[in-house]
Amino acid sequence: MMKNATFRQLKVFESVARNLNYTRAAEELYLTQPTVSMQIKQLSEIVGQPLLEQVGKRIYLTDAGRELLKVCREILDGLSRYEMYISEMKGVRTGKLRLAVITTAKYIVPRLLGQFCQLYPGIDVSLNVTNREKVLQRINENLDDIYILGSPPEHMDIHIEPFLENPLIVLASSKHILAKEQYVSSERLAEEKFIIREPGSGIRLSTENYFSERGLKLKVKMELGSNEAIKQAVAAELGIAVLSAHTMALDRNSEELTYLNAEGFPIQRQWYISYPHEKQQSIVALAFLDFMQKEGNSIGKKYLQGIPSFPIAE
Ligand code: PGA
Repeated sequence: MMKNATFRQLKVFESVARNLNYTRAAEELYLTQPTVSMQIKQLSEIVGQPLLEQVGKRIYLTDAGRELLKVCREILDGLSRYEMYISEMKGVRTGKLRLAVITTAKYIVPRLLGQFCQLYPGIDVSLNVTNREKVLQRINENLDDIYILGSPPEHMDIHIEPFLENPLIVLASSKHILAKEQYVSSERLAEEKFIIREPGSGIRLSTENYFSERGLKLKVKMELGSNEAIKQAVAAELGIAVLSAHTMALDRNSEELTYLNAEGFPIQRQWYISYPHEKQQSIVALAFLDFMQKEGNSIGKKYLQGIPSFPIAE
């Protein structure tokens, strides 16, 4: 029966199944929504089973749909590897590099990509910046070539390789009462109201762990989905926040913000390059891994000089 399905139908299905949203899939594929619906309808008819079901406003995959999604991923993955193979045969480094990284890595990964793309100008890059939980989900779904994580997962058997320091600091407004203190104990810190990231964030997880390990309760003033928004809220004196020192990369000279010399801080963390053990990397992804191993650390360190918790600029 599947012989009658077209490649286009499978591509449309993969997009709808991944986004669980017809409109987003239509936008992604530059198609109209009726075309997308029609392709899905035809594919369901070929399969003889519903692939998606709508409950209220939400779309869910049926069992048949979930299995088909796995098959679609294998096909698309195989095709992109084949594309790489042909590029390599032609001696041209063209193709696509797909990265998914946690939010703090966005301060450095574009710099690395800048240099990498100068070496291989024919490569297209897609960089997905999201939180830890969503990166882990993307690893499970095999959506990208390489991932950068800030806190390794406990129960996932994946390749993990430390890449660069990613310390957490306590950020406060320069006008904050604790800004002038030489030292702030964890008990004193716990009296403050915090602005924290959304559930699923690795930084939030580390912040919660910091307090729970000390038997303290974290007081939450506000929850915000972006490090930059948190910085603005801290500057507006809405509360203090635990953030990665990397988020200060663009604000080296900010007079509105300071970081507190608080007990247990900076929390020393790392970024990790990660991918599933069994992942068959494309030639482009292998070239990027090689570049990261050879150059990543020194480019990163150079760029980070002068940021709190990093080497002082010479
Ligand atoms: P997050 O991860 O975006 O999930 O908070 C960032 C980090 O761990 O550095």
